[in-house]
Amino acid sequence: MPRTDFIAVNEPLLDGNEKKYLAQCIDTGWISSEGPFVQQFEQTLAARVNRKWGIAVCNGTAALDAAIEALGIGPGDEVIMPAFTIISCIGQLIRCGARPVLVDSDARTWNMDVSQIEAKITRRTKAIMVAHMYGLPVDLDPVLEIARRHGLRVLEDAAEMHGQTYKGRPCGSFGDLSTFSFYPNKLVTTGEGGMIVTNDDQLAAACSSLRNLCFQPDRRFVHERLGWNLRMTNLQAAVGVAQLERLDEFAARKRAMGKYYTERLSNIDALQLPLPKTDYADNIYWVYGLVLADQVELDAATAMRKLASLGVGCRPFFYPMHQQPVLQNRGLFEGESYPVAERLYRKGFYIPSGLALTEPQMARVAEAVGEVCG
Ligand SMILES: Cc1ncc(COP(=O)(O)O)c(C=O)c1O
Repeated sequence: MPRTDFIAVNEPLLDGNEKKYLAQCIDTGWISSEGPFVQQFEQTLAARVNRKWGIAVCNGTAALDAAIEALGIGPGDEVIMPAFTIISCIGQLIRCGARPVLVDSDARTWNMDVSQIEAKITRRTKAIMVAHMYGLPVDLDPVLEIARRHGLRVLEDAAEMHGQTYKGRPCGSFGDLSTFSFYPNKLVTTGEGGMIVTNDDQLAAACSSLRNLCFQPDRRFVHERLGWNLRMTNLQAAVGVAQLERLDEFAARKRAMGKYYTERLSNIDALQLPLPKTDYADNIYWVYGLVLADQVELDAATAMRKLASLGVGCRPFFYPMHQQPVLQNRGLFEGESYPVAERLYRKGFYIPSGLALTEPQMARVAEAVGEVCG
């Protein structure tokens, strides 16, 4: 018999103005990307992260794809990026013939170890891609300083970082181009969705054109460049506008959830919990990750299986780029090793962290984690 009390790894909160704004889309007939919520969503999020431009797209992966193309990254260009991240960061680099160059993670923050970046720079390096992981931002100042000194572009993947700051400045305000995702596990969701934000007029125009098949204003069906259809619908943006109204509340809720789990789990020796803070940010706990200690035999896959049997949904940490079959099959990363990223995958997973989670559910999760990992 399937359990009815299973605690999902994520459930979004949609009890603000979402229904009201969706009804407006239906009532007015504005359901395509031409509708007014799209611009409102773009302008509100861009303003929130101190950016001039927001270009809404159909998901966070598409935002990265378009950003890479807009930056003019192409065959032979090298882009330095984390080994420990989602495949979305690397897809377009491979497709366009660029060469991803990986760096390992910091074992404490689970973010890119920025001290490894400079040694990877060559004549061909064009950009540094940072991707903030799970709740803490990458230590950005050293990245920006290296980029400035070497004349490199910075692409900031802030997919998971709505509402987070680095030294008081919003995540999403640091890259030449920065990107967000609005998948339902994010602090702000549109079902599926993404956005590129920037202050650069030319890059904004390029992203906007690439999103819309590179139609030309005067000769619509004559194309000088290949784009994609990455447009976000008015329906999605309507949900996004309603969600953004509550971003501060959502961020506070995530932080309270993180604090609760930390208090309940910090007595378990076998677990490394997320760092509550660094000297540049307080954790926003996009998801609440756990890393099992080396001295226990238990690995993440076994722990997740046991937790599922107790009615607790979990997700594994990302699988490192250099170990991905699809990339190894292309002859990439042969003989390369990134031990921290490898260990994070082997030992790391996250527990239910969605905004709709109740305190009794969190108590049950903590109890189950204690039973499996204690
Ligand atoms: C760091 C990071 N980048 C990119 C993405 C891709 O976003 P999407 O799922 O909207 O394509 C995600 C998704 O979770 C992510 O965590």
